[in-house]
Amino acid sequence: MGLTFNYKQATPFLSDTEIRNIENEALEARETLLKGTGEGRDFLGWVDLPLNYDKEEFSRIKKAAQKIRKESEVFVVIGIGGSYLGAKAALEFLKKGLYNNKTRDQRGGPEIYFCGNSISTVYIKDIIDVIGDRDFSVNIISKSGTTTEPAVAFRVFRKLLEQKYGKAGAASRIYATTDKEKGALKKSADKEGYETFVIPDNVGGRFSVLTAVGLLPIAVSGANIDKLMLGAQKQRDHAINDDFKKNPALLYAALRNIMLRKGKSVEILANYDPCVHYVSEWWKQLYGESEGKDHKGLFPAAVDLTTDLHSLGQFIQDGSRIMFETIIDIKNPGEKILVEKDEANTDGLNYLQGEAIDYINRCAMKGTILAHTDGGVPNFVIKLERANEEALGRLFYFFEFACGVSGYMLGVNPFNQPGVESYKKNMFALLGKPGYEHERDELLERL
Ligand code: PA5
Repeated sequence: MGLTFNYKQATPFLSDTEIRNIENEALEARETLLKGTGEGRDFLGWVDLPLNYDKEEFSRIKKAAQKIRKESEVFVVIGIGGSYLGAKAALEFLKKGLYNNKTRDQRGGPEIYFCGNSISTVYIKDIIDVIGDRDFSVNIISKSGTTTEPAVAFRVFRKLLEQKYGKAGAASRIYATTDKEKGALKKSADKEGYETFVIPDNVGGRFSVLTAVGLLPIAVSGANIDKLMLGAQKQRDHAINDDFKKNPALLYAALRNIMLRKGKSVEILANYDPCVHYVSEWWKQLYGESEGKDHKGLFPAAVDLTTDLHSLGQFIQDGSRIMFETIIDIKNPGEKILVEKDEANTDGLNYLQGEAIDYINRCAMKGTILAHTDGGVPNFVIKLERANEEALGRLFYFFEFACGVSGYMLGVNPFNQPGVESYKKNMFALLGKPGYEHERDELLERL
């Protein structure tokens, strides 16, 4: 079955004419993307990545992952934004949130922690404490090689490695994923002799999960990266070849644009399994940075259900009618636990005896979809058969392709992120970085 996109529950909010009218726009946007005639055309390397990836590097990634799995009890992945969210999403989706709490035998590989995605002293110190005197390795990931958050964290962990293993020993435990020639990280990797992996010039950060950026940490977790690429390949075939009505990525891109034009300016990505939480975080960056510009775009929000039905459910059901919902539905969780009979039945749950917990979850999902639709929130459903590597490869590619198409339909360049620079400029000025002296005085006066 692969991946399907279903909009049946949104039909009360959409007419056939609206869908017919937008079809050509979606097809034209796909053409622009595939022919490379739109804005941001220098960043389309991800489109063919599932076929044209560097096979030599791919096998080096697998070898490095084996080495890390063998010689490390802890693996620290340092990166921010597109340089961490894809790997984190994959780890949680495939190995689940309690991966690090399992035994080494259950995991088969090291504990994996992500760092350099904030500037929290306490978080860095916690990771140092968690490592303790155990063996560890580090993957520093930064396309520009100059981003402050990961650079600061890397200094800390590089020093720890050097103190523990000496310079050469540390170098053999540091893996740098960065540009093929530019940036401070590439310079120090060459100088110190770290093994390096390349983020291709034509693949932007948030579209880089299927490069070494995502693949090395994913392989270290023991997940099968061949199957991940295969899933992406299969979804690519659909995205570039299928007719509009049978094309999940084109339909999703088109229908979310219809929603926006009708005043639904917030899209909520919802899931019914915590293993999808970080896929939503990855998706937020993908769509937020790609579409939120020129004062345009849908605001990408996310909820974990049923958890958030007890916090945000009231708002979704009954608050301002500015949103629609896209549900990621995993049909088969891969595990089965039944509700057992209890003679006393003091909790009144015997009506569920013999039912799988997943059956309860599915009834909650179906009931919520109908309730939210009744409340004026159109619902789309993306369905995956299972939470495995192939499904995740499909999902990553589906969202990336739909994002490119949707961005062009919206009339923005989906492949730049000019707005991200503003905070950096102010932070550098306040930190006294050479070259920012003028801005510093001005900012200090305002504070
Ligand atoms: O999508 C993007 O380009 C950004 O979110 C980057 O991934 C993020 O800013 C990290 O940049 P870098 O990999 O250069 O450290």
